[in-house]
Amino acid sequence: MTSNASPAPAAPVGIGTALSRVDGLAKVTGAAKYAAEYHVPGLLYGVAVSSRIAKGRITAIDEEAARAVPGVVDIITHKNRPRQAWLDRNWKDEVAIPGDPFKALHDAEILFAGQPIAVVIAESFEAARYAASLVDVSYEEQAHNVDFEASLAEKFLPLPLRRRNSFHPPKNHGDAQAAYDAAPLKHAATYHLATEHHNPMEMHASTVEWHGDGTITVYDKTQGSQGVQAYLASAFGLGKKNVRVVNAYVGGGFGSGLRPQWQVQLATMAAIHLERSVRVVMTRAQMFTHAHRPECTYSIRLGTDTDGKLSAVLGDATTSTSRFESNMEDIVTWGMMNYASPNIHGEYTIAPRDTYTSADMRAPGAATGMTLFEIAVDEMAYRAKVDPLEFRLLNYSDIDNMNRTPFTSKALREAYREGAARFGWERRSPEPRSMRDGRELIGWGVATGMWDAQFSKTAASAKLSANGDLEVASATSDIGTGTYTVMAQVAADTLGLPPERITARLGDSDLPTAPVQGGSWAAASTGAAVQLACEAVAKQLFKAAHKLKDSPFANASFDDVICADGELRLRDGSAAMPFTEIMRAAGLPSIEVEETATPGVGDMISMARKSRNTHSAIFCEVRVDEELNQVRVTRVVNAVAAGRIINPKTARSQILGGVVMAIGMALHEETFADRQLGRWMNHNLAEYHVPAHADVHDIDVIFVDEPDPEVTPLGVKGLGEIGIVGTAAAIANAIYHATGKRIRSLPITIDKLL
Ligand code: MOS
Repeated sequence: MTSNASPAPAAPVGIGTALSRVDGLAKVTGAAKYAAEYHVPGLLYGVAVSSRIAKGRITAIDEEAARAVPGVVDIITHKNRPRQAWLDRNWKDEVAIPGDPFKALHDAEILFAGQPIAVVIAESFEAARYAASLVDVSYEEQAHNVDFEASLAEKFLPLPLRRRNSFHPPKNHGDAQAAYDAAPLKHAATYHLATEHHNPMEMHASTVEWHGDGTITVYDKTQGSQGVQAYLASAFGLGKKNVRVVNAYVGGGFGSGLRPQWQVQLATMAAIHLERSVRVVMTRAQMFTHAHRPECTYSIRLGTDTDGKLSAVLGDATTSTSRFESNMEDIVTWGMMNYASPNIHGEYTIAPRDTYTSADMRAPGAATGMTLFEIAVDEMAYRAKVDPLEFRLLNYSDIDNMNRTPFTSKALREAYREGAARFGWERRSPEPRSMRDGRELIGWGVATGMWDAQFSKTAASAKLSANGDLEVASATSDIGTGTYTVMAQVAADTLGLPPERITARLGDSDLPTAPVQGGSWAAASTGAAVQLACEAVAKQLFKAAHKLKDSPFANASFDDVICADGELRLRDGSAAMPFTEIMRAAGLPSIEVEETATPGVGDMISMARKSRNTHSAIFCEVRVDEELNQVRVTRVVNAVAAGRIINPKTARSQILGGVVMAIGMALHEETFADRQLGRWMNHNLAEYHVPAHADVHDIDVIFVDEPDPEVTPLGVKGLGEIGIVGTAAAIANAIYHATGKRIRSLPITIDKLL
């Protein structure tokens, strides 16, 4: 027993330190396995045949040539598919939206080009792929529409349904039309965002391991193992205990992995049918027939007094969806929430077309709505002859202007100030085309970002072993965001253990209940659950120590002790005892607990009374070649107010990734629909452009101080999405400042600058 130990603070490894990813070594050495990398014995390979038409019916499928390919085991189509329990009812996944989720091989109906209509199963991938190319399908084609403009004739708004991260109808205040009509200064324009397809590095992939005893293990590319488990158990009538889903590593997830996708349905169907292990991987081209950010048109009208103070904000937006599901996003609400206009009015509709359903994609709604709104704000600032940053400060709202509720915290003013100082905004010359360097025009732009700070019910377990090693576990995912590291750090912080003694486990449906990783809620929610579990371990340690014969803690209460350096210590430093010694003395082989963090835990205030959001101020420099119209984003400062930062290094990485994705949104990403064929034309990474290294220059990330004990138990707000919100607007506004050309349709490709 050690006595007279000083109550020194724990080594700086916990919350707030820039710890490198605990899974980094496994990732860079290839030890980390992804869904299509599990080499299970006797594996069969499935390749899906895609519909060449966008709408109609399958009239015949000639499988003869395909079945003759050596190694082909079977071909499953709607005609011979096994019975599937869920086809009899409308099963909804965890983040389902209004409508009927797509069911592959359900019937002869074709709903979109690229729809999987058969799966060829073979002993090798090559045989399956070749045979799939030989499946000859005849169709009865029907008239289709994949054109967004044309689909606007059918726009509508379904009743909003309850769902996680759900659509919130705009709340109007005052008489925005009258205020707009009376405003001495006005701006009205329509903005547009092109369709963008999901392209994480790891494509949707599933390896289904058939154990032969009625159970399966499914290695799936998903953002939620238990969501896929529930889906498969229900769809195939298997029962949850017979389905284990593993997603220990995920090669990027931006929302397409929130819902179970068709590859896991096909692989599981084939495995059950053939009683063999089966893998199905979407091809990159198939990814381009699948989940995408909705196309958007957004008409914005702003009115101000002669000084530039907003009196009216009106927004009317439509986004695209499919004919079988209604995907809705918050588009018009962000501008109504963020600025102090007394009169606000929002309208929102969706327009169906014959494609796969549009889907959540990093900051769904805000990345579109806030970005387009922030271009309009820039235009209004110029109309009012006010510096664009000044204009935003002039119209700053301390409360959520749409819901008329206070924020748990909003350090956006600080973000504007610190971002502007770092960027050097005061050196900006206001006139467009007034800054240049040789043949390059230079432009500086600013914009605002805003996203939700959400919290989702999440459980975690903690197990302290007799040797002092700690394992924390939750069924949450790490889609690249750093969840493993966050879990280890929160545990290190709570129990005062070095990270090398801590193992974090996640990505397995067998682990304590957690939702899909999305909505930027994972760090706050999983972190809170790990903290609760580790506190419960500390309490059990104290209880055990308290009861020991001649215990130095005999007269102490739990409030009198701290955990540090693997020891339980009295706060006054008069006694300390290693965890291992307490457990040995008390005869405890291990301490195991499981705790659930639910909204309202700790100091969290009721979800309804206050708004919970992250904010950001983005400053951007572009250089535009005057002869070639080539745009380079040479400097970005993204100043983020997101509460407490658990790990500045992984947090910075999230913002960097968001900014890079925003460069794609501003300049590159666009999927083109072929109206005749009803297909996406540029269905590969050669023709669908994303930023490459040469497109990414200086990106500076600032986290402003924003203490907020109310928002979540750890004061954490989440960072996975805020980096993309508004950043494309800062780029578009910088391009205007450089060139004097206002482009209202993203991406701003070279042709639009001619
Ligand atoms: Mo994100 S769109 O919640 O994966």
